[in-house]
Amino acid sequence: MSVIDTSCIVIFGASGDLTQRMLIPALYHLYVDQKLPKSFAILGVSRSIYSDQAFRSKLIKNIKSDKKINEELLNKFCEHLFYQAINTSDVNDYTLLKKRISRINADRELKNNTLFYLATPPSLYSVIPEHLAAVGLNEETDGWKRLVVEKPFGSDLKSAVSLDESLYRHFQEQQIYRIDHYLGKETVQNMLVLRFANSIFEPLWNGRYIDYVEVTGAEALGVEQRGGYYDGSGAMRDMLQNHLLQVIAMVAMEPPAVINAKSMRDEVVKVLQCLKPLSQDDLENNLVLGQYIQSQVRGKCLPAYREEEGVPNNSRTETYVGLKLFINNWRWDGVPFYLRTGKRLPTRVTEVVIHFKKTPHPVFSADAPENKLIIRIQPDEGIMLGFGLKEPGAGFDAKEVAMDFHYSDLKETELLTAYERLLLDLLKGDATLFARSDAVRACWDFVQPILDYQKKSFPLHGYASGTWGPIEAEKLLNRDNHEWRFPCKNLTDTDYCEL
Ligand code: NDP
Ligand code: BG6
Repeated sequence: MSVIDTSCIVIFGASGDLTQRMLIPALYHLYVDQKLPKSFAILGVSRSIYSDQAFRSKLIKNIKSDKKINEELLNKFCEHLFYQAINTSDVNDYTLLKKRISRINADRELKNNTLFYLATPPSLYSVIPEHLAAVGLNEETDGWKRLVVEKPFGSDLKSAVSLDESLYRHFQEQQIYRIDHYLGKETVQNMLVLRFANSIFEPLWNGRYIDYVEVTGAEALGVEQRGGYYDGSGAMRDMLQNHLLQVIAMVAMEPPAVINAKSMRDEVVKVLQCLKPLSQDDLENNLVLGQYIQSQVRGKCLPAYREEEGVPNNSRTETYVGLKLFINNWRWDGVPFYLRTGKRLPTRVTEVVIHFKKTPHPVFSADAPENKLIIRIQPDEGIMLGFGLKEPGAGFDAKEVAMDFHYSDLKETELLTAYERLLLDLLKGDATLFARSDAVRACWDFVQPILDYQKKSFPLHGYASGTWGPIEAEKLLNRDNHEWRFPCKNLTDTDYCEL
């Protein structure tokens, strides 16, 4: 097992939302679970002025909203937190930063191992590494130096390639960790174990037995306070290009020779490179773009996307994407993968549904039950297998029943959150769950025709908040005699709607 070295975690963008809401709480939980080394330091960096104490107090507020906190441990954790204000865009300030890191290293007896976490606006993703290099903070002569880049990694293929080029001027690929927090989710990783640790699924995991695959990433919330960012991004860049395509890779990849960063990521990139390029016909017929409009949901009037803060009132940004795609390889030839993601859908649920082909000759009833495997990523994390059983009573009619497993049944196990898992791996130097440059490019390569298509006039369908998106998305499947599942927050409740 890899060891966790003593290290200094330098977070750029430390006064921002991601640091406060995700990174620091994740590090606190790892500390409480004794997963961090004895000696470590977290140095927050941004332009706002705080003393170490003021920075600690700001971050504590958020952790304290968690009911399970332990005051004594929280105070001890805070002793590891420091803050340095610099103008992140000014190379001259990096000498000051270097001195501060050296002092912390000396005081805390760290070993000059440094993790630089970029949680700033993406415009700084190439600036900060360049300035770090200007003062030698990229050199590994006296301890490792790792660079973590948050999403979005570019906004299209060209910008992703150019970001890579600028990072490679100062850091090597093995020093760079591109975060996709979906890969940190226990249930996403479990897809590999489910597939490759059991002999019963893999023989059926191909186009001979699988009819179609659904991948849903639904959210009940709207864009909240992030309208300004989201309007330049849309569901395509925000969710599909990264999170959903990574999920597809886990469902569709070939077994890696071993589980390590190279083998795993080699297989991921192979399958992403097999995504069938979208033709003009696909763009016109197999893609549905939507935007939520005002609606009454559970007695509350929810605003239209165009009325959200930071969103222009004539915006044509999509808050919903439905897409049918194919994977051009032996395993998946001819199997449609239907993807959908959207904001303001009826519930928050992420899941993969594998629909197996029906029996070739239905002897028991004309409408034979379907075999489907539901892999629930969140919430009510688990697995459900649907199959046919004899309907009790006279005759031989088949009825659909289900077997289900819920992670919550593993009482002794606390699942690590995605950021906890990924931060641990970063400290261990394990890149298995981080996106490699070629995989990121393959994803951009695949969605680039959609981005180009959106530059011209394209149909954007309105859908009422709280519904499952535009009606056109249903037609996308119905046309092929397929159907979306309408999931509920509980894995096993499929036929009722939450009120
Ligand atoms: P915020 O706007 O809340 O924070 C941005 C941070 O960057 C602040 O600490 C800001 O502090 C600092 N900063 C430094 N230089 C600049 C500058 N020139 N202009 C603006 N800010 C600057 O963003 P988030 O924390 O939400 O997001 C940070 C990054 O993480 C983004 O790239 C985002 O896409 C990504 N991300 C965020 C998620 C989230 O849930 N928030 C989820 C996934 C990814 P100061 O002004 O003091 O310098
Ligand atoms: C983020 C997107 O990457 O993922 C958000 O920027 C989205 O818009 C979020 O809400 C979804 O993540 P999760 O873990 O809640 O499914």
